[in-house]
Amino acid sequence: MTTCILAIDQGTTSTRAIAFELREDRGLHPVAVSQIELEQHFPHSGWVEHDAAEIWTATVQTCREVIKKAGGVGRFSAIGITNQRETSVIWDAATGEPLHKAIVWQDRRTADVSAKMAAEGHEAMVQAATGLILDPYFSATKYAWLLDAVPGARERAARGEVKLGTIDSWLVWKLTNGASHVTDATNASRTSLMDLKTREWRDDLCDLFKVPRAALPRIVGCAEVSGESDPSLFGRALPIAGSAGDQQSALVGHGALKSGDAKITYGTGAFLVANVGAEPVASSSRLLGTLGYQVGEDVAYALEGSIFSAGSAIQWLRDGVGMIPDSRQSEAVAQGLKDNGGVYLVPGFTGLGAPWWEPDARGAVIGLTRDTKPAHFVRAALEALAYQTRDLLDALAKDGAPAFSVLKVDGGVTANAFAMQFVADICEVTVERPAFQEMTALGAARLAALGVGLIDDLEPRNEEAPAVWTPRMAADQREALLGGWRRAVRAAIVAAQ
Ligand code: G3P
Repeated sequence: MTTCILAIDQGTTSTRAIAFELREDRGLHPVAVSQIELEQHFPHSGWVEHDAAEIWTATVQTCREVIKKAGGVGRFSAIGITNQRETSVIWDAATGEPLHKAIVWQDRRTADVSAKMAAEGHEAMVQAATGLILDPYFSATKYAWLLDAVPGARERAARGEVKLGTIDSWLVWKLTNGASHVTDATNASRTSLMDLKTREWRDDLCDLFKVPRAALPRIVGCAEVSGESDPSLFGRALPIAGSAGDQQSALVGHGALKSGDAKITYGTGAFLVANVGAEPVASSSRLLGTLGYQVGEDVAYALEGSIFSAGSAIQWLRDGVGMIPDSRQSEAVAQGLKDNGGVYLVPGFTGLGAPWWEPDARGAVIGLTRDTKPAHFVRAALEALAYQTRDLLDALAKDGAPAFSVLKVDGGVTANAFAMQFVADICEVTVERPAFQEMTALGAARLAALGVGLIDDLEPRNEEAPAVWTPRMAADQREALLGGWRRAVRAAIVAAQ
């Protein structure tokens, strides 16, 4: 029976393939998984690169392993792709080889270009057209940097000999052996080159960012067959039938399909995506307007708040300063204290994202006394997840986003019950963590299953009951804690000026 979907989840720190099987309950169930860590390159301060060739090799290897574990390619109907967004790849159309290391979303090398464009007064137009602010986070300035850095690339790109794309485009190009140069509309919505309303590239934006349109992929829907994998890769051609950026894919995985549904994924960073319905909502509090998904005529827009350091603060406690031997211990360590002792940690390791957008801010710890112990740092790092989430929810409310009472969560840190209770308390929302955690891959699998007609809609089916945390903190305690956090953020921003 061909009832399996091969979901590729190409993330910042690893490449994964997961096989999902469609069962009689109409639910998609995971049956095999394979994962390979991805090397991170830091050639200069603030620069982060990936090797696109390594990403491709790992993709093929994990897919082959999963196909084998799941019983062979004959069981598979389609491929779904989800990926770290904004990360920008340049490659040679004739050879299919990357012409430079990929510039990762976290990379700040184009901060000066973005600042200059903002100073020249372009931000209002860019934000109105794309939903995005001017920041080195997005692909357009990275593409332009790559075209300037690779000799001859700009001229060759205008002739169609050099291609640009986010990781989804790169993988589809390689999977189809160069037959398809596409990107799905959610990934395109992160480049600063796509008009959010029409979901098409805009010539004026391409001119402004100096990116030739001829080098860009064709924009496709999230559940559209955009090509077939080369039969020599897996033994048989498989349609590539679903694709979405990882945060949007998680939105679909959570079944956050209605206006007012919201999810936050706590990974290295944390990304809150709130479904705002069929029309884009312009943010006045520096959230990002973005696309939730586009499936045929069914389009959902979203507002997004991006936090650059979430789980990475816990990793820093473990690997950077050795305050905990492994991340799981952070829960017991934090719970071992009666309170935070007045210590606040602002994890601005790579600048501050929404709603602050301070690329030059750095981390800060305030409130140290002679009683401060390593445990206070651990607790402060976990508490910071909740405070940062609260800042995003306040920004959403200011933007007039539909109110919601349940926040769906996923990602590694959600295993930490202390942190999840603290999110519920500080944000005054019910926090729900699904039993199955791979929301990102599940979303891509659902989109691909829909793309080949295995399922009829994106609704979750027959899932186990989630873990739930409800708010229980007294209002005055919450306000006092938020006051401390706000003072700490101000201190971090002032220190960077
Ligand atoms: O926008 C960046 C985001 O898509 C990266 O996600 O899960 O790879 O850290 P992740």
